[in-house]
Amino acid sequence: MSPQSRRISLCSVTLILAAFCNCSNSARSGSICTQLLFKLKNGDKADVMLELPSLFSKVMRNPALKFLIGAAKAGMMKALMKQATAASQAPFMAVIRGLGISKSATPFWISNHIGLNNVDLKAVRILGALPGVFHIREQFVATIDPVEVGSDPIHKREIRQIKAQWGVSKIGAPSVWGKTKGENIVVATIDSGVYAGHEALKDNYAGKWLDASGESNSTTPIDTNKYGHGTHVMGIICGRTKGIGVAPGAKWIACKAFLANGSSKEIAFRICGQWIFQQRPHIVSNSWVGGSGNSEFGDIIQSWREVGIIPIFAIGNHGDLCRSAGSPGDQPNVISVGSTSINDTMSKTSGRGFAKSGAIKPEVTAPGVDIYSAWFDSNRKTNLYSVMSGTSMACPNAGAVALMLSANPSWKFDDVLSALKNTADRPPVDAKDLACGNTTTSNYPNNAFGWGRINVKKALGM
Ligand SMILES: *[C@@H]1O[C@H](CO)[C@@H](O)[C@H](O)[C@H]1NC(C)=O
Ligand SMILES: *[C@@H]1O[C@H](CO)[C@@H](O)[C@H](O)[C@H]1NC(C)=O
Ligand SMILES: *[C@@H]1O[C@H](CO)[C@@H](O)[C@H](O)[C@H]1NC(C)=O
Ligand SMILES: *[C@@H]1O[C@H](CO)[C@@H](O)[C@H](O)[C@H]1NC(C)=O
Repeated sequence: MSPQSRRISLCSVTLILAAFCNCSNSARSGSICTQLLFKLKNGDKADVMLELPSLFSKVMRNPALKFLIGAAKAGMMKALMKQATAASQAPFMAVIRGLGISKSATPFWISNHIGLNNVDLKAVRILGALPGVFHIREQFVATIDPVEVGSDPIHKREIRQIKAQWGVSKIGAPSVWGKTKGENIVVATIDSGVYAGHEALKDNYAGKWLDASGESNSTTPIDTNKYGHGTHVMGIICGRTKGIGVAPGAKWIACKAFLANGSSKEIAFRICGQWIFQQRPHIVSNSWVGGSGNSEFGDIIQSWREVGIIPIFAIGNHGDLCRSAGSPGDQPNVISVGSTSINDTMSKTSGRGFAKSGAIKPEVTAPGVDIYSAWFDSNRKTNLYSVMSGTSMACPNAGAVALMLSANPSWKFDDVLSALKNTADRPPVDAKDLACGNTTTSNYPNNAFGWGRINVKKALGM
């Protein structure tokens, strides 16, 4: 294929790959993704993202930030990022106002982007004619990691009241509960929402919630996904009933980006990313994927990291081929999680490394096959439970990080990651998985289990 036709085809493979549309790399002025022009040419409208050069590094070099931490640092970062992005975006916002479409525009400050919903070719052409380096493309779409729901998806059977479900026991969480159940730690999710009336979750909601999906605008937490994806995920993190939660003493907050059908437009998860930054939870657990090798969420992840938020991502369910890891889990500066079974075998569908950078992925694995957690039925009034599988269920073992931070309040990202890596259990690795990337003679780390299946008991030296 010629470079030109290759470029077009890369842009065309659904929106997920739009981020790779290389239209502006060497351009001295703005460019419009070819596929976007193609989509708009028959008078159709599209949801687009106007992407300007990142200002993150420049902002972070500001001496005003040097000695700040916590809320003061977050506040100053927000002020500086707002100032820098507003100046950079001003000429575009002026044109957007002139076109009378400011209502459909969402200017971001956590990254240098302007989201525009439902715009036509004329508006895109006028914006594209402005001077400067920028890039106009379609918004990409993320999905809450396609879940495999057990053979009994409407799992209404009451399960035994047991101390801990198998996954919770497997990682050693109950051995830590005498010391901490995650008290004083706040965990956030970006997902389909949370059914907050569930008996497992109603008592540890920390009162912060945003529906960025536009689906309900509810001011109290709800979950619109038919599998209760976000509710199931939160149950694994900190559910308080039937032994479903890893850190039942932790509190939760949530941002809803995903629609009932499990997809989310870029604008919604960027709004969530910006909101999470301002809430400064200790941990943000992300059971979703948007393409692979996609660095578009980088500024948001780095901003989270700068204010001490620990980002944990599912590695995705597109295994088991080598290099099947999904984004942002395959990016640097995050802890990504693959999925294992009750027998400590890799889930076939769990995404495998390595990352585009060559880095080993995922960092760790955790139980994600046949996981019991919270659910609800259509009237959202009952305390139901269901079984689901996927890295969406492995990622919420983020609850283990809540236990670690609760026991060691001074621990930072690097302390947590090295403790997880150094103490992980190391189940046997398939030859096929060992053949993916460079694995040392010890077989660990590798691009299936990463550094191993987490063991929070050992991570806390207990
Ligand atoms: C939620 O609010 C947005 C922005 O005002 C609006 O576009 C959307 O239609 C609202 N959704 C519902 C379900 O009311
Ligand atoms: C999900 O629903 C939204 C809103 O109705 C729609 O725009 C989108 O295409 C749907 N996504 C999928 C994967 O069906
Ligand atoms: C685990 O191993 C047992 C015994 O070999 C087997 O019956 C079961 O199907 C395995 N379960 C999974 C999820 O691999
Ligand atoms: C594997 O090792 C070779 C030789 O050291 C190196 O060039 C290559 O980048 C490595 N690949 C990965 C994925 O780490």
